[in-house]
Amino acid sequence: MSEGKSPRHAAEQESADVSEAEIAVHWPEEDYVLPAGQFIAQAYLTNPGVFERFSLDRFPECFKEFADLLDWYKYWETTVDTSAPPFWRWFVGGRINACHNCVDRHLAAYRNKTAIHFVPEPEHEAVHHLTYQELFVRVNELAALLREFCDLKAGDRVTLHMPMVAELPITMLACARIGVIHSQVFSGFSGTACAERIADSESRLLITMDAYHRSGELLDHKEKADIAVAEAASAGQQVEKVLIWQRYPGKYSSAARLVKGRDVILNDVLAGFRGRRVEPEPMPAEAPLFLMYTSGTTGRPKGCQHSTGGYLSYVAWTSKYIQDIHPEDVYWCMADIGWITGHSYIVYGPLALAASSVVYEGVPTWPDAGRPWRIAESLGVNIFHTSPTAIRALRRNGPDEPAKYNYHFKHMTTVGEPIEPEVWKWYHREVGKGEAVIVDTWWQTENGGFLCSTLPGIHPMKPGSTGPGIPGIHPVIFDEEGKEIPAGSGKAGNICIRNPWPGIFQTVWKDPDRYVRQYYARYCKNPDSKDWRDWPYMAGDGAMQAADGYFRILGRIDDVINVSGHRLGTKEIESAALLVSEVAEAAVVPVADEVKGKVPDLYVSLKPGLLPSTKIANKVSAAVVSQIGAIARPHRVVIVPDMPKTRSGKIMRRVLAAISNRQEPGDVSTLANPEVVERIRALAT
Ligand code: PRX
Repeated sequence: MSEGKSPRHAAEQESADVSEAEIAVHWPEEDYVLPAGQFIAQAYLTNPGVFERFSLDRFPECFKEFADLLDWYKYWETTVDTSAPPFWRWFVGGRINACHNCVDRHLAAYRNKTAIHFVPEPEHEAVHHLTYQELFVRVNELAALLREFCDLKAGDRVTLHMPMVAELPITMLACARIGVIHSQVFSGFSGTACAERIADSESRLLITMDAYHRSGELLDHKEKADIAVAEAASAGQQVEKVLIWQRYPGKYSSAARLVKGRDVILNDVLAGFRGRRVEPEPMPAEAPLFLMYTSGTTGRPKGCQHSTGGYLSYVAWTSKYIQDIHPEDVYWCMADIGWITGHSYIVYGPLALAASSVVYEGVPTWPDAGRPWRIAESLGVNIFHTSPTAIRALRRNGPDEPAKYNYHFKHMTTVGEPIEPEVWKWYHREVGKGEAVIVDTWWQTENGGFLCSTLPGIHPMKPGSTGPGIPGIHPVIFDEEGKEIPAGSGKAGNICIRNPWPGIFQTVWKDPDRYVRQYYARYCKNPDSKDWRDWPYMAGDGAMQAADGYFRILGRIDDVINVSGHRLGTKEIESAALLVSEVAEAAVVPVADEVKGKVPDLYVSLKPGLLPSTKIANKVSAAVVSQIGAIARPHRVVIVPDMPKTRSGKIMRRVLAAISNRQEPGDVSTLANPEVVERIRALAT
């Protein structure tokens, strides 16, 4: 353990501050909504006996069913090695390749089936339907290039900073084919955020695109690569090559100069690899497939390391049985591949099942809120997957749009944040036309795939609640003392998972201590125990369980703000603000927002002698955008005379959050400076 603390002690300190788990539940319990008979008639999973098959006493052998959805070069010997908790090793001894499983093995039956429908944002541009054969060809050519032109080999890391284009899954699969670990950074993140991830993963190569469309504009993206490479170099990581896809092959769409000897137009070099084939590398099941960075309690984003065999089996099984993807379905997950949802449920899960998966470049409401429904109609999409934020935006901007289009969803997913029952009902009634079943899936970047959800062909739905743990997942809610909070008690606590599962991440890249500390230490009664039962996984979410076993997720218990379903660390935002020379202190708090769920309000105090000004506030806002990306842009920057502080000097974010949300801050008399509260309130409201 770092700093010589016991794991338990360290974790207690981290979570002692705020406990959203203690907040009262403000939504009344909703009535059940039954799945349509039509859906059940065709669903893969309709027998509740599945839960017996996956009962805790069948752990871990029950997960063989997951692995058996895949092709193995060498079948594994040990289902899970739990001898060094909490570092779990799934399907030990097995050899597998993720690219083979998502591409090659489908050629015999599905060569001419569409693997990826790429939908450009400009509506006049043609949709590109990439067949499995075409995907195979393009992935092979790129894999050959990565190996020979870039000298990459299994185990190397490559950072991708790519928008939502077909080339992104092609690039990921080409990496997977030769055992290279990809680390895709959300394209909306800044060059600085990209640099941080390049440095942490020690990538020698950056793969990007010159430009992409967003909200009607062709955005210059290559300029971010220049920042990323320069800043990674100052952090000690040299990027040798930048490979640049062209959004329009043959035409360079960026104003940023090409750096000689470093920047390479990928489309040009690929011409020399025409027709090349590369045998997929048989990787150990536990070889890392990719890194996905996410925000946590400290400032630095952490690289969640996901395995090949365990992860792929998990996303394949959950895509098949929770999303009910059949070979004839057209599936559209409207997330961004830059987040875990896109990795698991646009790329790896659906492609492992030989599905047709839609990749849409732009924003859902561009040029109007009818766009998603036009896409659904024209491609015959019948499974749809999105977030409450997108649903809220579509509902606000075009409540009557879905009815205008002739599409029919059999199944819809919501993910990423709690969905208000009213919004859920609109989704069900208008988007789903009363026919589609909805699954509200709860999980996290660290988890690989869904943890809680109703089974679409078995359970009734309950608006605003996720469901019980999916087969093989055994959640439990603990109170602060580690006592179990029973279902139906009306009390909230910290949701944990009792058992390991194949999709769980392997570690935090280069920081195993943090992995143990943040996710396992809190409720581990005996750090020396070698028994997996002593190592429940703590998700960091407050939750309660109703008498029927359904969970309701209440939000983060740590310093993380969930903006539009994406996690932003408060410390990341605050450290960006502190880069502005005038700023002395910064504190960020979540504010409820009608569309985005939560948005960050940023409070700053200035160094002595400086006067507040709009100029400084704008500078702070710009610093946050350039450090992290537009997604973290503060809703407001409020310059305050001083922060509300405890006598020991700790900033009371809770008081600021109350002010931002127009609530009563409660008793502030114990603060070191109670008089400042009213002054802040006057400034902020
Ligand atoms: O607080 C939970 C919330 O999103 C967090 C995970 O965020 P991220 O790692 O970015 O992954 C998002 C997509 C999997 C969780 O800790 N969350 C996720 N799904 C739900 C949710 N909150 C309520 N209901 C959900 N269905």
